[in-house]
Amino acid sequence: MDSTDKYLFKFKGFYFSTSYLDHELLENLDDFEVRDDDVFIVTYPKSGTIWTQQILSLIYFENHRNRTESINVNIRAPYIEYNLQKTDFSKRPSPRIFCTHLPYHLVPKGLKNKKAKIIYIYRNPKDILISYYHFSNWVTAFEPSENIECFMEKFLNGKVVGSLWFDHIRGWYEHRHDFNILFMMYEEMKKDLRISVRKISRFVEKELSEEDIDTIVKQATFETMKTDPLVNHKAISENEAATRTEGKFLRKGTIGDWKTHLTVEQNERFDRIFKSRMKDFPLKFIWDMNEN
Ligand code: A3P
Repeated sequence: MDSTDKYLFKFKGFYFSTSYLDHELLENLDDFEVRDDDVFIVTYPKSGTIWTQQILSLIYFENHRNRTESINVNIRAPYIEYNLQKTDFSKRPSPRIFCTHLPYHLVPKGLKNKKAKIIYIYRNPKDILISYYHFSNWVTAFEPSENIECFMEKFLNGKVVGSLWFDHIRGWYEHRHDFNILFMMYEEMKKDLRISVRKISRFVEKELSEEDIDTIVKQATFETMKTDPLVNHKAISENEAATRTEGKFLRKGTIGDWKTHLTVEQNERFDRIFKSRMKDFPLKFIWDMNEN
């Protein structure tokens, strides 16, 4: 353990949420037993985690697709580093779906055998910044910021849960050959959900009929998820102690919301930092491909 404050808990150089912390679990993460048929969603916060939790659980489980089973998305695909429901993961039947914000160097050792699958979702960091700013001001477990400028300072210094976005994506991408990993962009999912569902299902080797895909796409749109209590973190909105203001976990679900928030100067500063940090980075970013 390096340091801790009310909101951030630094462990092995990475910031976790103090409120959700389970120190013993973190200490033992290395040895978390990974099964060959496990699938892990890896994201930097606010990149589309809940969306992918929903898509994958719909791909994997017919009972979620036909809604005969009412299980909250956080139970269908729990966070390995927080285990909020204190589940005994070793007793979960296969196939298991997990999610995590961990950087590549802190994930369980067993993930490096390349059998278990990883889906890494990334998103325009400017949209993440805006989403994260609103989220942190809304949820009491996160540190609020007076304005975007203040939050941007923390974000660009990596003083947020998940640490620095640039390190997160770079680390995962540069070590991609150690893992069985698919990189997907939030923006590409937004542009064509159907193609994205197909891409994910192919990667996890799940055969789906056209009808199944129709059902998944329908249930994974922003509009449907926003009103689905199983996948919209309704419990947070309804828990007054957990929030500071009115709010929704599924806030806007759009591309390019940063344009309505960042000043020209903030945007230029972000671009300069992005350019220098992501110089020579081979992964293609096509953030604006489907702006409307
Ligand atoms: P916004 O705050 O920009 O709306 P995470 O689950 O990683 O915390 O990411 C949350 C972000 O993903 C929020 O972004 C949320 O609205 C967006 N999101 C969740 N479900 C979505 C969906 N079905 N389609 C598009 N965006 C979605």
